[in-house]
Amino acid sequence: MSEKSNPTSQRKKEHIELCLTDKVAFHDKTNGFEKYEFKHYAVTEIDISKINFEQQFLGKKINYPFLISCMTGGTSEAENINAQLAVTANKLNIPLGVGSQRQALENNDYHKSYKIIRKNAPVIPILGNIGAAEVVKYKDTKPVRTMVDLVEADAMVIHVNPLQELIQDKGEPDFSGLLKSIEKLVKNLNVPVFVKEVGAGISKDAAGKLLSAGVKGIDVAGAGGTSWAGVEILRNKWETNNFLWDWGLPTSYCLRTVSLLKKKYSFYLIGSGGINDPLSAAKAFALGADLVASARIILRELNESGAEGVSKLIIDWFEVIKNIMFLTGSSRLKDLQKGKIIRKDELY
Ligand SMILES: Cc1cc2nc3c(=O)[nH]c(=O)nc-3n(C[C@H](O)[C@H](O)[C@H](O)COP(=O)(O)O)c2cc1C
Repeated sequence: MSEKSNPTSQRKKEHIELCLTDKVAFHDKTNGFEKYEFKHYAVTEIDISKINFEQQFLGKKINYPFLISCMTGGTSEAENINAQLAVTANKLNIPLGVGSQRQALENNDYHKSYKIIRKNAPVIPILGNIGAAEVVKYKDTKPVRTMVDLVEADAMVIHVNPLQELIQDKGEPDFSGLLKSIEKLVKNLNVPVFVKEVGAGISKDAAGKLLSAGVKGIDVAGAGGTSWAGVEILRNKWETNNFLWDWGLPTSYCLRTVSLLKKKYSFYLIGSGGINDPLSAAKAFALGADLVASARIILRELNESGAEGVSKLIIDWFEVIKNIMFLTGSSRLKDLQKGKIIRKDELY
């Protein structure tokens, strides 16, 4: 089946094309990290050469707490993109998210675009991906198990994207029974279940419901980075919904509030949504993230500078984060969470 006659593939192709431009950024809302500043610590005794970012994630050792966020699969372009992202992630020994696997259940045409990931990245943690709108339709967990097997996933991510489904042409904004479906997946899958947004953020209330359903990872994917309402408005030329372009909870707010749930639940908290520079990444760690994740900036870097460029970007970011750790007296990333960041208005 050609992409033109397969609406899911065609949509994925258009998403990639639009996300390679900056047209899909938020207009006025930011992710809020610019409202914070690190506290300079004049008597630091940190030895930068000893800072090490290695940690365990999903039972595997990773070199940096950086996740290449779920992006693509199910189109002809996706195979090449996923192949290169997998090589990069494998070289850096960092986790990688797969784009929505919905297309893989429709037919076998693009299975290679998903399988190439595990082929090129044999040991890293790989996160499978499917939308909430699909999950609520499945009568049992078999389709999701098929997706886990297809990429040999270490965790399965469900993306909750009510805003995108609402605006998307032929979107499916019907998530009734979602929490029950998630609970069922948690019980029946042999890998942990994570939940992510796609750029409108997960609130503390929503995260609390997900964690009590047994979810083991929350990726807040907050507002301030890529606007998926924006992507769909541009695709559909549907300007009546322009006011929703900037809808959503800023990434910094989501992290600050959802991290409070760590007192009650054990889970991975992933900070994403406009993590486009190392300072934002460091602030995300300081506000509670265990890992940070980026999507669009990685796609653009891959397009401009190839796999080498992506790998250099991530390594460079963590070199900058080392400097921030030195200047704040933090020997481990977790130390950044010990009062090393303040709101800018407190400075004056
Ligand atoms: C081209 C592209 C495709 C995406 N496709 C998916 C997807 O299939 N599933 C998903 O959960 N998120 C998807 N996302 C959303 C990202 O994972 C991320 O949550 C969102 O773009 C915000 O991060 P950013 O500001 O770093 O781009 C996609 C993002 C991009 C740029």
